[in-house]
Amino acid sequence: MRLVLPAGACQEIVIGFHRKLRFVTRSFLSPPCSVLYFSGEHHNGPPDTTASKDCCRRLTCWVMALMKAAYIERTGPPEVIQYGDLPKPQPQDRQVLVRVTAVSVNPIDTYIRNGANYWPLPQPFIIGCDLAGVVEQLGPEARRFQVGDRVWGSNQGLLGRQGTFAEYCAVDEQWLYPIPEGVDDKDAAACALVGITAHLGLFREAGLNAGETLFIQGGTGGVGSMVLQMAKAIGARVITTGGSDDKVKACLEMGADLAINYRTQDVVAEVRRFCPAGVDVYWETVRDPNFDRIIEMLAERGRIVIMAGRDARPQFPVGPFYVKECSMHGFVMFKAPPEVQRAAAEEINTWLADGKLKARISRVLPLSAAAEAHRLQEENTIHKKGTLDGKIVLVPNSHS
Ligand SMILES: NC(=O)c1ccc[n+]([C@@H]2O[C@H](COP(=O)([O-])OP(=O)(O)OC[C@H]3O[C@@H](n4cnc5c(N)ncnc54)[C@H](OP(=O)(O)O)[C@@H]3O)[C@@H](O)[C@H]2O)c1
Repeated sequence: MRLVLPAGACQEIVIGFHRKLRFVTRSFLSPPCSVLYFSGEHHNGPPDTTASKDCCRRLTCWVMALMKAAYIERTGPPEVIQYGDLPKPQPQDRQVLVRVTAVSVNPIDTYIRNGANYWPLPQPFIIGCDLAGVVEQLGPEARRFQVGDRVWGSNQGLLGRQGTFAEYCAVDEQWLYPIPEGVDDKDAAACALVGITAHLGLFREAGLNAGETLFIQGGTGGVGSMVLQMAKAIGARVITTGGSDDKVKACLEMGADLAINYRTQDVVAEVRRFCPAGVDVYWETVRDPNFDRIIEMLAERGRIVIMAGRDARPQFPVGPFYVKECSMHGFVMFKAPPEVQRAAAEEINTWLADGKLKARISRVLPLSAAAEAHRLQEENTIHKKGTLDGKIVLVPNSHS
């Protein structure tokens, strides 16, 4: 039997195992420990509240602080998301414990929750990739930050890592960046994964230059709004689309040189009128690209950026593609190494600080509404309802 008790915990009570123990002990434990967790030695998961007196001798017990989190114990529709108590993590090695002030939803969160099965998930799995917050504690080898620093980060909840939709996250410091002074935590969280994606696609993949013309499908979307503003920040010309007149207006306000309502206007004709030689870079954000149309809009030696639609198997016009000497760049942001993501984050921070890059937040919800947030994100990314106009940000309930 192993007892791990912080100062102030009442050992006599702990030794008197009983299945109601965690309720009995609650009032005896000193903060920050709120509940006693106990489980069989074979079982590392959440508390076993059904343990009988008979198996008490085999129990291992911990006293832990708890936090609120949005998590899943099985994959499925948004309803599988639970909101409740999980143990507050302890930062290990180079990890930093972040007290989370804001998180944002990305489409990949919904694919993972729905059972995409890209990699094994921790059990239980806290959903979410992006976060902003305040450093509360440092792991023994963490060097980059001080307690009290404001930070943002992404690339969590991926490749087997635990996610961010919780009051606290233990994150390897290599995935965290300072929040510039004057930038709101919600804005930093909203720009995280989509900002790094936009930066990688525009500069590492497509090599966009000042003076070139870029077309973005969906200029007010999570990724699209970042791509639009970054391209303008380096002096490129931007053509983009929106699914309503309000979204077209928003694209122009973000700096687009031409914004087209894709529901009411002929996009190819408008692009040709504005840019007869074609666009240098075409950025696709929808999951079912139409390559006939894309290559028609491209200039000679044009580059296509593709980063969505794992299941898409569209027709591909081979002749027009190679005769125009085009190239295509596919990527996923989460495979970029930490130093590459950091370089992107540093430039994002510069643009956030000087106002060249602004988060586009469509909804702010409490963390407890994570299931609703997933429903809304899916309604847009999968079912193309057009009811979102940017990112969904959630804030821990204590902040809302
Ligand atoms: N490879 C990577 O690393 C990576 C990273 C981030 C995201 N992604 C993927 O990229 C995709 C976009 O992500 P996101 O976060 O930007 O999603 P999002 O915020 O939901 O944006 C989707 C965009 O698609 C536009 N759109 C929807 N239907 C359209 C249509 N029929 N014609 C033209 N535009 C249409 C929407 O425009 P309206 O609202 O105006 O209709 C909106 O701007 C997702 O599939 C996501 O999984 C990949």
